[in-house]
Amino acid sequence: MLPQEIIRRKRDRQVLTGSEIAAFIAGLTAGTVTDAQAAALAMAVFLNGMRREEALALTLAMRDSGEVLDWSDMPGPVTDKHSTGGIGDNVSLMLAPIVAACGAYVPMISGRGLGHTGGTLDKLDSISGYRTQPDTETFRRVVRQVGCAIIGQTASLAPADKRLYAVRDVTATVESIPLITASILSKKLAAGLQSLVLDVKVGNGAFMEKPRDAAALATSLVEVANGAGLRTSALITGMSEPLAAAAGNAVEVANAVDFLTGTHRGQRLEKVTLALAAEMLLVAGLADSQAEGLRLARQALESGAAAERFARMVHGLGGPADFMERAHVHLPRAPVEHAVIAARDGFVGSVATRSIGLAVVVLGGGRARAEDGIDHAVGITGLLPLGAEVRAGEPLAIVHARAQDDAEQAAQRIRTAYAIEDARPSPRDAIARRIHGSPATG
Ligand code: URA
Repeated sequence: MLPQEIIRRKRDRQVLTGSEIAAFIAGLTAGTVTDAQAAALAMAVFLNGMRREEALALTLAMRDSGEVLDWSDMPGPVTDKHSTGGIGDNVSLMLAPIVAACGAYVPMISGRGLGHTGGTLDKLDSISGYRTQPDTETFRRVVRQVGCAIIGQTASLAPADKRLYAVRDVTATVESIPLITASILSKKLAAGLQSLVLDVKVGNGAFMEKPRDAAALATSLVEVANGAGLRTSALITGMSEPLAAAAGNAVEVANAVDFLTGTHRGQRLEKVTLALAAEMLLVAGLADSQAEGLRLARQALESGAAAERFARMVHGLGGPADFMERAHVHLPRAPVEHAVIAARDGFVGSVATRSIGLAVVVLGGGRARAEDGIDHAVGITGLLPLGAEVRAGEPLAIVHARAQDDAEQAAQRIRTAYAIEDARPSPRDAIARRIHGSPATG
């Protein structure tokens, strides 16, 4: 089957067959399909879309382009969460140990940040000694003994996605629902999970700004994942303000430690984390209802069991044994601290969330290109939530920077991102919607 014939059919709005899609992805993996051909097909899909059955065939072909992990020897359900990405979204750091403390096994394969959104892997890289690319034996041992291990993508999982994503990234073809669906799910299916919960973000800091688009993406993900036999549901959660009070890398890890130990828990962060934990327990079959899932998750948090799992995961992957007790010593700290001051009295009426993410990039804590290095110490803390009352001269946030110039540039962005209004805005729901499905059988 000639790749150009497959491209021609999609260009002409035909429905591709499973064998055409499989042949194209096999060629992409083997290197017989060129970057130009991959880009042309990606653009044809971007413009003309794909039916669900085509997106499913693409997902399965990309899953099968590399290794598929097998966790059938784990003594409990193997589950994971995937977020479409946001600002101050450090949920994974708390969620994996909470769910592990409730009896699940969470082999979480996470990504690095790109553009305005942060990545779990960059956050964990700020912990001295923590290995985000351990050998397979260590990964399996930590998952088995601790219940969770958060590591980075390996080259052997869904290599076709790696190639196609690199092409999409430079050809304006990322924002296509079938392509995003196949990209995310091929990696999750290759990770060998038994169930999955998706956190699809919506709002001015998210990939999908409009509720309609977020619902379309969530529905596509849930239908294709269940079609592939992976029990999956999705929560659509708000990203019109940073989720945690911190944005950056080391600062988000410190925020997660405070959350797990009970030193400080932001309300919205707690709500979203516990809702996702309950959903994971429900989908994994460890709870009969969301209410029971919530109760179990809260208990794992309040009893300190989740904090203990996090500590063991960090140590098991090479980090310090006393990380929870002395996180401030083990995390890098930026030399400059600069308060961003409110110019007037009022209430936080809106936050241009994407600008907060870009302020982290300005500080050096995020990357514009995949190959860029980052500064793990810089970031923002004390970010005021929507609806908070503030007086002129009080801080909206604290910038942690390498140099005063960077701090002032980031502060300027943050000040402009915060709209201070006379009236308190009406509260917004942290969880907008739940979308669920049943796995295909046979
Ligand atoms: N994340 C992915 O892994 N793939 C996409 O296409 C978009 C977001």
